[in-house]
Amino acid sequence: MRNDLGRILKEGLEAIVAASSQRELDEVRSRYTGRSGALAAAMKKLRDLPSAERPAAGQLANEVKGKLEAAEEARRAALAAPKRAAAAVDLTLPGRAPRRGAFHPIVETTRRVAEIFQKMGFDLFDAPELDTEHYNFEALAIPATHPARDEQDSFYVEPGVLLRTHTSNAQIHAMETRKPPLRIISVGRCYRRDASDPRHSPVFHQIEGLLVDEHVSLAQLRGVLTAFAREIAGEGAGVRFRPDFFPFTEPSADFSVTCFVCKGKGCRVCGTGWLELGGAGMVDPAVFENVGYDPERWTGFAFGMGLDRVAMLAYGVPDIRMLLENDMRMFGLG
Ligand code: DAH
Repeated sequence: MRNDLGRILKEGLEAIVAASSQRELDEVRSRYTGRSGALAAAMKKLRDLPSAERPAAGQLANEVKGKLEAAEEARRAALAAPKRAAAAVDLTLPGRAPRRGAFHPIVETTRRVAEIFQKMGFDLFDAPELDTEHYNFEALAIPATHPARDEQDSFYVEPGVLLRTHTSNAQIHAMETRKPPLRIISVGRCYRRDASDPRHSPVFHQIEGLLVDEHVSLAQLRGVLTAFAREIAGEGAGVRFRPDFFPFTEPSADFSVTCFVCKGKGCRVCGTGWLELGGAGMVDPAVFENVGYDPERWTGFAFGMGLDRVAMLAYGVPDIRMLLENDMRMFGLG
């Protein structure tokens, strides 16, 4: 009995695979699983078996039936599927390469910029995007009357809690949790209630740097940013400071680096050969007081710069909103 069933399964499967039309398949079915087929004949013999063997043999017969029916169904579907003409397959044609993923221009730019400062000994420090007024404003000596505090400019989640408007909040978190001397950078998203246009977006990215030690000088700030400019724009590149005001640094400057598109010659993008990237300055003693550092002993510099513009230039992305909307066209640019 067992042997019969094994043979029926083997031969049945072979016949199903060999069937080359629906009609042949019908014939195979009546020969094996049909009412007067081989399987039905084998099942009749069940009666002749000793009653102890009957249930196991019956189960096996049912399994064989299930397998044959499933194979038949699969073969029927395969025969029904439209056939490709063999001649249409040209094996000498080059294959279709799978589409490869790519990192987002902001991710690439952030890594590249962060790496330059990491090589100079700055640790990557993580600071929250949702923060309190204390970290985003007050401890940075930005009083309630400062224009940046205007609710128009910020996204408040509840009174006193907002989406950070700059990465400078990282300065306070770093100094509150670490003892001087320290050297950190912090990168991430920032938010302001800005109307959105090709150059402005309510969500943007910054990198912040902070160095605290004894006897830190403006010349060292300039040195660090010049080293950065050379990495990004090549040998001979430099940094330009212009006087500016920030409540948490004194003196303060806005800084530009040699345009890495035209290497400083002056192009359509930069006009002057300089790219304005951010603000910088010497940490205001009032900020040291706010975090419990002795302002008589500790000195430092800080800088903050936007990353979106750098990414846009490096990748040739014409509109800042493409970065946020993950517009796939930006991967084909630059
Ligand atoms: N946080 C400033 C902004 O978003 C940029 C800035 C200026 C950061 C001066 C600094 C700094 O660390 O020293 O406009």
